[in-house]
Order: sequence, then structure tokens, then C-alpha cells
Amino acid sequence: MAPLTRMRAADGNVPNELAPEYYAQRASQGGLIISEATQVSPYGQGYPSTPGIHSAEQIAGWKKVTDAVHTKGGLIFLQLWHVGRSSHSSFQPGGVLPVGPSAIAITDQVSLTPEWMTVPYETPRALELNEIPGIIEAYRQGARNAMAAGFDGVEVHAANGYLLQQFLDSKSNHRTDIYGGAVENRARLLLEVTQAVVDVWGAERVGVRLMPFGTYNDVGDSDPIGLYSYALTQLDRLDIAYVSLIEARKGNSMEIDTPKDIGALRPYWPRTLLVAGGFTGESAEQAIVSRHADAVAFGRQFIANPDLPVRLKMGAPLNHYDRSTFYGGGAAGYVDYPALDGVATSD
Ligand SMILES: Cc1cc2nc3c(=O)[nH]c(=O)nc-3n(C[C@H](O)[C@H](O)[C@H](O)COP(=O)(O)O)c2cc1C
Repeated sequence: MAPLTRMRAADGNVPNELAPEYYAQRASQGGLIISEATQVSPYGQGYPSTPGIHSAEQIAGWKKVTDAVHTKGGLIFLQLWHVGRSSHSSFQPGGVLPVGPSAIAITDQVSLTPEWMTVPYETPRALELNEIPGIIEAYRQGARNAMAAGFDGVEVHAANGYLLQQFLDSKSNHRTDIYGGAVENRARLLLEVTQAVVDVWGAERVGVRLMPFGTYNDVGDSDPIGLYSYALTQLDRLDIAYVSLIEARKGNSMEIDTPKDIGALRPYWPRTLLVAGGFTGESAEQAIVSRHADAVAFGRQFIANPDLPVRLKMGAPLNHYDRSTFYGGGAAGYVDYPALDGVATSD
């Protein structure tokens, strides 16, 4: 199950009371769930009602989720998130500006406020060099908290144009210090964060998600193969469990499907490769058989089909997803998608 933001957290950005049921419905023996993106710090939040992993209440809320998933025989990793400049001052403690690698605003999208108002993105404040250790510490603490919450591992979210990708990509990173310029510098924060998380969990429980060719959140690189081949080669040296690559899409949407170019990066990542992006049961099988990838993560189809692995195995028809209930709201579109009659949701 791919990481899926649902914007339904309760007060204090604690996973809501239906979250254990939602995740347990989708838990299957042998399958891996990646949680929705979860901010490691209050400054890392950029959307309404997304959960965090920086307070005792949030840890306790997530513990209920991991217990429910484990009871069903499932496994779940927490996706560690800092949105960087993809935030708005209305989310920031003290109403300060969000931070990024450089003072460059997102111009091709709009931001939400905590009250779901649509507003332009602000120009972020470029992080000072001496603030970067604090960012790494936030991820390290998030990783520790994920362990306290009973997760099986963690995934570093370095995709979709959030903070770590803002540092990676040349369009959003114009720094002139050791975190900007050459690919070795732009990849530095990703590698330091991953190392910090590996120090907590051990490398075999850590994955990293990247989006080498996408432009969501106004990112992009002048030489994605050069940048991401370097990042993958260095991640390989950290011995992590897997890399998850999001297939590129047309335009700026995360939800239009044109897989391309991932194959060019495969030689730089000999380890376990997850891919996601518009797969069907058939195309996923083809991806595995052809060794394009080792595993395929499903997003939207898993929202609508709690027993998706069973359905794919049987070739059974799928429920259609309702986009209007992806983000926010309550039980509708969250825990009320039916499983196949008479088939247990745990594989
Ligand atoms: C509602 C929704 C929320 C998403 N939230 C996240 C997220 O929190 N973290 C992330 O890395 N990707 C997120 N994505 C991207 C998905 O993980 C996945 O890569 C994408 O949906 C493509 O897979 P699919 O075609 O099977 O849906 C989200 C996608 C959707 C549709």
C-alpha cells in the first residue's frame, strides 16, 4: 500500500479514532503498508489535519494503528515528512514563514490554510547553515518516536517536492554553501537524514521514496539522471532496505499516469526497488516479471479496495474510488469501501 495522505487527523494532529480500522482493513499477511506522510515537526506541516509524530499524543494514536495492523498479520512503515516551503505561515508555530533551501516560492500551485482556505504560497525563508542539524534531529526524533509507536520501520519521504526534494533539485535549491550547487551538495541533506534514521532503526528497516522525474510542487532538475544516479549510488552505500520511485506523470498532477525513465535509473539501484504510479494488477505483474521493479505499491486502488491484494490475485472486479473523499471528512470514503463478500480482508 502506497503512502496516502487523507487529512483526517483529530485535534493535535493525532491519528483519528477510525485510523486503526482503516489501516487494519488494508493489512494483509506478507504485505507492507506505508503510512500516510507524517510530519516530524510542527514546522514540517503544510496541509490541514495531517498527522504528526512529534508529540506523546500522536505516538499513542499511532500505537493503536500499529497494534491493529499487527493483529491482522500486517506490517507498517511510517513515512517521515517535512514539507519545507510547501507550507504556509498559518501552519507555522508563531506564524513565521515556512523554510526551504532557498527563498524561492512555489508558483504553479496554491496552498491551503488549516481552515482549508486557498491562498498563494509565500516565499520561504532559506534555512541558515546552522539550522540544518536541527532539521536532521527532527527526522532522527521522528524515527525514534515511530519506534515507540510500534512501527516496523520508516520511509524517508524525499519525493513529491517536499523539503528533501527541494534540496535535491536544482530548480528549488540555489544555495551556495555545502548544501547547494554540485549534486554531492544537493544530495547531502537526504543522505544525512537517511543516515540519522538508519542510526535509529538499522538499515534493513529504512526505505527512501524519490520522484526523479516529476514536477509536483514546482520542483525539477536540469539533469535528473546525473542527480538521482548519484543519490541512488550513495543510498546503496547506506545498505537501506529499499528505494521507492514514483513514476513520472504528465503535467503537474500526481494522478496522471505516464510511466517513463525509471528504467534508466535501475542500474544505479541493485537493491529492492518499489515503484508506484498508475499500475493495474496486470501491469504490476509485468513490471515484476520483467524485473523493472521488485514490488509495486498501489495508491488510489487501495483507498477504494481494502482487500486489494485478494482482488488482484483473483482477478476480481475493483470498487471505484471517489476522489471527493480522498482528503478530509470522516468515515465516508475512508472505512466504508466494501471487501468482497465472504473473503476476509486479511489475505
Ligand atoms: C489521495 C492521495 C494521497 C497521497 N499521499 C501521499 C503521501 O502522503 N506520500 C507520498 O509519498 N505519496 C502520496 N501520494 C502518492 C501515492 O503514494 C502514489 O504514488 C500515487 O497515488 C500513484 O499510485 P496509484 O496510481 O496507484 O494511485 C498520494 C496520492 C493520492 C492519490
